[in-house]
Amino acid sequence: MPLALTLPVPSPASPSSAPAARPAGRPPVRWQRPGRSRPWPRLWSERSQLLERQHSRIEALLEQLIEGEAPTARCQQLVRALGLHLRLEERWLAAAGCLCPGHRLSHRQAAELAARTPAGSAERLGWLLDLQEWFHLHRYGADAVAYARAASAPTLSTSASR
Ligand SMILES: [Fe+2]
Repeated sequence: MPLALTLPVPSPASPSSAPAARPAGRPPVRWQRPGRSRPWPRLWSERSQLLERQHSRIEALLEQLIEGEAPTARCQQLVRALGLHLRLEERWLAAAGCLCPGHRLSHRQAAELAARTPAGSAERLGWLLDLQEWFHLHRYGADAVAYARAASAPTLSTSASR
């Protein structure tokens, strides 16, 4: 079963997935569902663009949840989006030969943190802030290094489109 290319689309019919309040002037996070026939990108340059778009969407969702309400359905959406992103990034960095054990371990720790969604709103805010801190440091730290290595790595094969 292939991974989804982008993040899940919230259902407007479901009240539990209604967008959280956000500051005036800030556009809502836009979720896109790719066409089912769209092929997986084969080049790292294309893959990194897709991964960076996912980064930006997850960051925006984190900000919305921190600044507004954080209903359970939206938190679950965040956890799913983060899990999908981490798995896709690991797959493509590994295919490029640029996924080190420390990077994989960092992903595992974030996934474990994400899986512990608190029930209370006060605890949930702390959890979201912890996730946001990890995500920011990871995106501009380990990810930036790994993506740069992948961008400069020789292209071994186009069959690594798994
Ligand atoms: Fe990463």
